[in-house]
Amino acid sequence: MTNWIEIDTYAKEWLKEAGDRIKESFTGKLNVQTKSNANDLVTNIDKETEQYFICKIKESYPEHRVFGEEGFGDVIENLKGVVWIIDPIDGTMNFVHQQRNFAISIGVYEDGIGKLGYIYDVVLDELYHAKSGEGAYLNEAKLPKLEEVSVDKAIVSLNATWVTPNKRIDHQTFTPLVKDVRGTRSYGSAALELAYVATGRLDAYITMRLSPWDFAGGKVLVEELGGKVTDLYGNELDMINKSPMFASKPGLHQEIIEKYIKNGK
Ligand code: IPD
Ligand code: CA
Ligand code: CA
Ligand code: CA
Repeated sequence: MTNWIEIDTYAKEWLKEAGDRIKESFTGKLNVQTKSNANDLVTNIDKETEQYFICKIKESYPEHRVFGEEGFGDVIENLKGVVWIIDPIDGTMNFVHQQRNFAISIGVYEDGIGKLGYIYDVVLDELYHAKSGEGAYLNEAKLPKLEEVSVDKAIVSLNATWVTPNKRIDHQTFTPLVKDVRGTRSYGSAALELAYVATGRLDAYITMRLSPWDFAGGKVLVEELGGKVTDLYGNELDMINKSPMFASKPGLHQEIIEKYIKNGK
């Protein structure tokens, strides 16, 4: 039997330690490199943080596998057994340019089912965490279940990329939604945007291209509070490959899909 209480205790300890190391890096010189394009940044701290978690996990749980953005973990083709899905720094551009608005994101899955979710806003020392079936918390405070909201009172997070011509979707799809909602926002960290959906600061978050490590932790958190985390059309998310993602309060999720996404197709 997997000892989730022990895993949860370790995960929280490692998150704090990794967070302290990230904060210490603010006074040193960052080594910033680019990946797929000139705006896709990665730093030595992203890499060191991922390596830190892998070391700790493999030391305590050699049978667990790690699926991490920077590629130091295992090659993952399925989610059999226990898999830690890790984004060492989500919001690297914010980390480099702002030294805030980024987070460590971790989801621990067993046979594809989300068991533990963590989003750690290192700078604010705010740890959003959930154990499936046992509630979700911001630090020590238990988070309440998400309440219903209508589109006209909703704040929706949507990056400007998706309302200007782009490769993934007809950019006018979202125009009626943007007009009808109370407001739109964009924070540059998918993990934090999911944490904000979990805490009700945002009512929904829509994006056309995320990787499993961007949402693995947030999915556990939002679902624990009764929210929905799916692809754009309400289907199960692909936990191995990149996909569009739509996270929202329950009723709003259905309303947006029916009225705006399906009609916009
Ligand atoms: C990125 C952030 C960003 C989202 C990108 C992600 P990274 O993650 O979550 O908000 O729009 O799609 O790749 O690269 O900073 O970990
Ligand atoms: Ca990245
Ligand atoms: Ca990310
Ligand atoms: Ca990252």
